Amino acid sequence: MSELKSLEDRQAALAAIAGEVRECQQCPLYSGRTNAVPGAGRADADIMFIGEAPGYHEDQQGLPFVGASGKYLDQLLAQIGLSREQVFITNVVKCRPPGNRDPLPPEIDTCVPTYLKRQVEVIRPKLIATLGRFSMALFFPNTARISRIHGQPKRANGRIYYPLFHPAAVLRNPNLRPAMEEDFKRMLTLLAEIGDEDDPGDEPPPPPRQLSLF
Ligand code: URA
Repeated sequence: MSELKSLEDRQAALAAIAGEVRECQQCPLYSGRTNAVPGAGRADADIMFIGEAPGYHEDQQGLPFVGASGKYLDQLLAQIGLSREQVFITNVVKCRPPGNRDPLPPEIDTCVPTYLKRQVEVIRPKLIATLGRFSMALFFPNTARISRIHGQPKRANGRIYYPLFHPAAVLRNPNLRPAMEEDFKRMLTLLAEIGDEDDPGDEPPPPPRQLSLF
């Protein structure tokens, strides 16, 4: 993947993955979807946000984070001078679980190596921000609680992994807003610190069962 340097190459690679996602029938979630939701944003984004799974509105539109959580995510981005066009936003699983239930382990274990891992390899973000516990669990295995580790970056492979609350959790519990907003502001500092010191993305693929992408 490291030969995918140009923006055009990366856009083409992401479009190919998105095409596969839209055709995917590898887990039962495909049968209930209106649209699969591969993800959206810059193919060479420095920041990649990974949520949990599409909800109702995302399933209707085929785009990530377009409901209430997405509006809040847009606000958080705007507060640090960013728009969603400057980042890449996707989810652990690409199809809506029925009734918005949690994604099941076999669904995650199928979708992550087949699509998310490849998206990370193409985009090679400098910072992966996890939104919520399912995404956090991929990069912070064996970590108990998001409330304890949110906003605490971990560096590996020249990249920063940055656990954040899920926007929906913050909307449900407004007491979390100040922490969420502080965590967002810190992202820019972290990015400035990492600079161009390493080119992430050349890490070996993870073993499929171990839910760790590094
Ligand atoms: N919640 C998520 O985790 N992802 C979305 O795309 C929308 C809501």
